[in-house]
Amino acid sequence: MNSLRPIGIIGTGKYVPERILTNSDLEKMVETNDEWIVSRTGIRERHIAAEHEATSDLAYQAAIKALDSAGMKAEDLELIIVATITPDTSFPSTACILQDKLGAKGAAAFDLSAACSGFVYSLATATSFLQTGMYNNALIIGADTLSRITDYTDRNTCVLFGDGAGAVVLGEVPQGRGFKSFDLGAEGAGGSLLKLEAGGSRLPASQQTLEEKKHFIYMNGREVFKFAVRVMGTATERVLEKAGLDKTDIDLFVPHQANIRIIQSAMQRLELSEDKCVINVDRYANTSAASIPLALVEAAEEGRMKEGDTVLMVGFGGGLTWGASVLVW
Ligand code: UT7
Repeated sequence: MNSLRPIGIIGTGKYVPERILTNSDLEKMVETNDEWIVSRTGIRERHIAAEHEATSDLAYQAAIKALDSAGMKAEDLELIIVATITPDTSFPSTACILQDKLGAKGAAAFDLSAACSGFVYSLATATSFLQTGMYNNALIIGADTLSRITDYTDRNTCVLFGDGAGAVVLGEVPQGRGFKSFDLGAEGAGGSLLKLEAGGSRLPASQQTLEEKKHFIYMNGREVFKFAVRVMGTATERVLEKAGLDKTDIDLFVPHQANIRIIQSAMQRLELSEDKCVINVDRYANTSAASIPLALVEAAEEGRMKEGDTVLMVGFGGGLTWGASVLVW
């Protein structure tokens, strides 16, 4: 990977909808309480899309900021990938809708579906295209509007999710910087632990699927938790090894923001102090594909990375899937 041209992040942007749903708001909707939510998940509030906002609208806001920070015009973009499991429509893809909104007429555009691991999967995909010279730049966005597929009468899931988008522009960077390794994986056998059952070709939308609430997220939280703790550790170790590094080389750890307890267990295994870990699950909850880019972009905006720092991103999610990357900032 290192003999190919170096590809890294040259622009960043993020967007979260204005409306905030707090734990005390949820106390009025389902039988739950702030103490339970904070102690079990670390979440205090989450942002929820307005009625008129769909995933491409969130993605658009993040994208224009990323393009601006890269000093790039939309018409110069060559590739757009939107990582999402809540596309505006099954087709056209959200990436095509976004391409039109941005006026990125020359760009190839497609969605990538790997749930919460989607952003890292997309980074790996685009980096491969760019390293080989097939394209020279790419806009990668993790965007999800999970509130649209969340059952707000189910306390097991409705406290966990939020909406948002994070975007990066990828391009050639000086030697020594950029992406050093990726570790992507899947355990399809665990697919039924986290799913949205209806609305596809297996179980098309019908009166019955509506009545059975099969257009909402189903999750076996305990099993997903165990999977998450396991793969956060193993994926991190593998991606470091592929880059020829070890855990002491990590300057900033950017984990998927699903549950503070999952993040803490990874930090313990890596023997990382809190100042080396990005945590914003308290303010945004689990935003699926947007989670890692929201954390990364926020860290960049706060000046937490300096040139040459080793940044490790790692996530897990539906599929089941995981993805990790080592990036020299
Ligand atoms: O992006 C990937 C997506 N998913 C995840 O990362 C989720 C991974 N899993 C988790 O984060 C945790 O498993 C949860 C936060 C979902 C649940 O935490 P837990 O410590 O595993 O709790 P539990 O499922 O073992 O449930 C404990 C109790 C249950 O009551 P009983 O059966 O022991 O009487 C639940 O009914 O807590 C109850 N409970 C709640 N109580 C108050 C579940 N949700 C709530 C709630 N408020 N919102």
